[in-house]
Amino acid sequence: MPCCLVPLAPHDPETSTADVVECDDVPSTDDVVRAAYSSRADEYTAKLGSMSAMDPVDRRLISEWAVGCGGPIVDAGCGPGHWTNLLTELGVAVEGVDLVPAFIELAKARFPATSYRVARLDDLGVPDGSAAGILAWYSLIHLEPDRVPTILQELRRCLRGDGSLVVGFFASERLEPFPHTVTTAYSWPVDELTQLVENAGFVVRDAHVRPNPRRPDRQHGVLVAGRP
Ligand SMILES: C[S@@+](CC[C@H](N)C(=O)[O-])C[C@H]1O[C@@H](n2cnc3c(N)ncnc32)[C@H](O)[C@@H]1O
Repeated sequence: MPCCLVPLAPHDPETSTADVVECDDVPSTDDVVRAAYSSRADEYTAKLGSMSAMDPVDRRLISEWAVGCGGPIVDAGCGPGHWTNLLTELGVAVEGVDLVPAFIELAKARFPATSYRVARLDDLGVPDGSAAGILAWYSLIHLEPDRVPTILQELRRCLRGDGSLVVGFFASERLEPFPHTVTTAYSWPVDELTQLVENAGFVVRDAHVRPNPRRPDRQHGVLVAGRP
């Protein structure tokens, strides 16, 4: 089950903004996202931080993709680290990175055999061309649309020539923000996100959309892309 649809406890919108810590040179939306997830990291982890809470279709897709990558994978925006750890259990060399230190601490404590590190999507701290796969599982959803091209360039920089990218996202007819339970997120038309991914130098090899019984207007989308 994609992580963002199971409702967390009612959200006090003031919590996320009151806790924002301003940092030099960091885009302010990252500050908002960091503060919002930090204040709810334990709650998120309890409700959504395990494979039992995930959809078996997603689990199969990601498992088969990861094993097929044939090399190291970066779980970019790993949250509390359950997907990262699944890949470790499958024998894949994987590192989970996330903006939110509380998630990284939780992930390390829960899954000590797996590697985790604090990093931002626009600076993953991975050498050029070193990753065989990048998993961006619902981690681009909070980016303002005009930031997405830059982030996709960073993901491409990290991937080796035969590398593969998986993006999980909310799919809709129009690009639109919505009041995600933790903080504002965006849903994307499949074609529009595909175009952005291809503009960043990828070829989209597969696109899946499956229905969301809770929100027919906001489906679950997956893009699988490679370098040409
Ligand atoms: C909806 S959660 C998904 C987490 C995890 N992939 C999962 O499936 O449970 C979005 C995650 O993306 C991370 N994230 C959002 N913006 C980020 C950024 N600019 N840099 C790094 N991580 C970011 C958040 O901290 C959060 O952990």
